[in-house]
Amino acid sequence: MKNKITIIGAGNVGATAAHWALSRRLGNIVLLDVMEGIPQGKALDLWQAGPLDGYAGTVIGSNDYADSADSDVVIITAGLARKPGMSRDDLLAKNVAIVKSCAEQAARYSPNCFMIVVTNPIDAMVYTAFKASGLPKHRIIGMAGVLDSARYRTFLAQALGVAPADVSALVMGIHGDKMLPLVRLANVAGVPISDLLPAEKIAEIVHRTQHGGGEIVNHLKTGSAFYTPGLAAIEMAEAVLTDSRRVMPCAAYLNGEFGIAGCFLGVPVVLGEQGVERILEFQLTDDERQALSESVEAVRKQMEETGL
Ligand code: LAC
Repeated sequence: MKNKITIIGAGNVGATAAHWALSRRLGNIVLLDVMEGIPQGKALDLWQAGPLDGYAGTVIGSNDYADSADSDVVIITAGLARKPGMSRDDLLAKNVAIVKSCAEQAARYSPNCFMIVVTNPIDAMVYTAFKASGLPKHRIIGMAGVLDSARYRTFLAQALGVAPADVSALVMGIHGDKMLPLVRLANVAGVPISDLLPAEKIAEIVHRTQHGGGEIVNHLKTGSAFYTPGLAAIEMAEAVLTDSRRVMPCAAYLNGEFGIAGCFLGVPVVLGEQGVERILEFQLTDDERQALSESVEAVRKQMEETGL
């Protein structure tokens, strides 16, 4: 159990991520939050499930960044979540201050960590954490595409009546309504979805994916999704901790890839022990390039609002 994973924010996403990490035997967990008692209580509860699930990882709850020292992975989930009627952008001003402080303090105690940012609006928050932490671009990333692609794959699998794991699909761009669920590349065990589903059904699924977070907020009313967001962050952490070189869509810092530079945006990334080992760049169609440029425009607008 040598891996150490700190999860900042002991709310629904953070506590659920801790649960998935323990259940996958990823290492020892520190659950950190400013709220006194919440991380301690949830950590004790999670720790006591060890004999039942069979995990041996320890989990401690804390309000002190000193307890996070020398973490291999730091996951930032702290911040306000959406309520019905709110866009992810409505959270920006409040969450900039929170993420800035979390990233600065976490990086001070774990200067060699790999940082995963989950707080919304993700593309601007990972940029905020990048600036605040001073971490190199290959060691900081935003979680969005894994979640959005999982939603896309789920809806496709349901429409096709096939196992979700056999649906391969990629969502690129911003984590917002302008995200780009690629139709051309989606397939079931290699068979293109455009050969299996009518265009109108695919368009409906693309739209549902783009609004998948809001659909859940509208049901919950008091917050946003957490089971799949928590697991998506842990999938990314696992790829880095095990040097698996799995390919996942993540908000990575672009330096000319896809003709975009100077911002974080969802692209396919090879994740390994160095963090972002490589960005898989490929030829986009004119329509896809146009859609991605709308994402870039939206992200740049968010970045300006961070004031960083
Ligand atoms: C969602 C939130 C986490 O998409 O942004 O559910």
